[in-house]
Amino acid sequence: MTSPRKLSPQEEARLAQVRQQFQQRKAISDQLGRIKNRIGVYSGKGGVGKTTVAVNLAVMLAQEGANVAIFDCDIDCPNVTRVLRISEGPKQDDEGRFHPSSRFGVKVMSMSFFQEKEDEAIIWRGPMIHNAINQFLQMTEWGDLDYMIADLPPGTSDAPLTVMQTLNLDGFVVVSTPQELSALDAKRSINMIKKMNLNVLGIVENMSGGIFGKGAAEDLADELDLPFLGNVSLREEFLNSKQPAVLESDAVADEFSHIAAGVRREISALT
Ligand SMILES: Nc1ncnc2c1ncn2[C@@H]1O[C@H](COP(=O)(O)OP(=O)(O)O)[C@@H](O)[C@H]1O
Ligand SMILES: [Mg+2]
Repeated sequence: MTSPRKLSPQEEARLAQVRQQFQQRKAISDQLGRIKNRIGVYSGKGGVGKTTVAVNLAVMLAQEGANVAIFDCDIDCPNVTRVLRISEGPKQDDEGRFHPSSRFGVKVMSMSFFQEKEDEAIIWRGPMIHNAINQFLQMTEWGDLDYMIADLPPGTSDAPLTVMQTLNLDGFVVVSTPQELSALDAKRSINMIKKMNLNVLGIVENMSGGIFGKGAAEDLADELDLPFLGNVSLREEFLNSKQPAVLESDAVADEFSHIAAGVRREISALT
């Protein structure tokens, strides 16, 4: 029997790289394995209320007793910390691992903690986003979670695609508004999720009522044969309260408790 051939420096380097990638993937899957359900909140359009829905849904699930974290993946416009009014970033332990702080019973991780100034523009390309999210996933001690709610970037470009692939999400809550144009965007978003062979848990109509009307998202859900998860009415509480609106108003809490029930039902139907 001959002894194994000595590796060339190139082969050594390649081997080290493969080993490192393997360790990275292992670290990520160990972390993600402790999270029972990973849910993305998404729409192709900005400003429809993704962050609002993600935050209030997370707080509602936590109120109901679940262990919940919110992961702000909107790399270009990380807004979760603004809505939650949290300025305290994660604590780093001796090994450099991040321990997210909690707010209103929800653990919070956001790209904005690593931004120098709040209004700084962040322009990242796909591979960088992929790396940043991988780093986050590797370095963050989420603990055991029932739900991770990911607030996704808008659009159908590189950024949301990369996040969807990297996070290996179980399903999506698609947010739309009563306007027809928004429903059209929601339809595009749903097509994109389906093309990636991922699950749509259902559609939420945000900003229902008042001048915008009501019902376009429910019609869309019917048309696409998807669950309609509920309406979130257009309300002042979302604009100027000191805490997430679910904690501020019983009417908002009712709407989100209905949505949370739908999310729980649809996610358990997947498994
Ligand atoms: N149901 C609602 N009623 C009133 N204002 C809302 C409602 N939902 C969202 N908003 C407001 O609309 C703006 C955009 O919402 P946001 O959640 O940041 O959207 P996105 O994350 O999709 O860009 C915010 O100022 C938010 O406070
Ligand atoms: Mg947002």
